[in-house]
Amino acid sequence: MKPFTRRGLLKGSVCLAGLVAFSRRTAAGILTPSTAEGPFYPRAAMRFADVDNNLAKVSGAIKEAGGEIIILKGKLLAKDGKPLAGLRIEIWQCDVNGKYLHPHDNRPVIYDTGFQGFGHDISDLNGNYRFTTIKPTVYPGRTPHIHVKVLDGQQTLLTTQFYIAGDKNNQADSLFRRMSAKQAGSVSMTFTERNNILETNVDVII
Ligand SMILES: [Fe+2]
Repeated sequence: MKPFTRRGLLKGSVCLAGLVAFSRRTAAGILTPSTAEGPFYPRAAMRFADVDNNLAKVSGAIKEAGGEIIILKGKLLAKDGKPLAGLRIEIWQCDVNGKYLHPHDNRPVIYDTGFQGFGHDISDLNGNYRFTTIKPTVYPGRTPHIHVKVLDGQQTLLTTQFYIAGDKNNQADSLFRRMSAKQAGSVSMTFTERNNILETNVDVII
């Protein structure tokens, strides 16, 4: 990772936390809070392979992923509200059984081979991104979440996590609790049903 990622800067600047928090309040709303990457970020070969934005269907596989299928979409925006086009957005999450597609997830749970586990999209000219995936489930010790990373080329601009709005496990989750109410709201997914599928919109402000 290059030294001048936002995450790197934040990591080394604990004493500036207050200043950073202040600078994140912008005309377009607060910047999307950054969060720990976690241990199961897909390996390099997987990250830059052509892994599409439909995690609920593995190319060539007959069965679809187990779990509740959702559409996760939104815009990538600059702090002044302008759309950010051409950025790579990645998501990764555990399958319906709480198992990550990663060699370091050693839990004795069978992985759902119908679930892609990781995917990416490229934001369009209006900053839009879109994924088909599953509603996140409980992973031991964590509230349901989807990991999210935004990159410009190979430079990470943001690493964060999305949560289910109002999930009963949120308040017991240390990463969730670390956020202000506004920050938590900015990464919380509220679902509406459209064409018999749950859909949620989360804009990412960088
Ligand atoms: Fe996770």
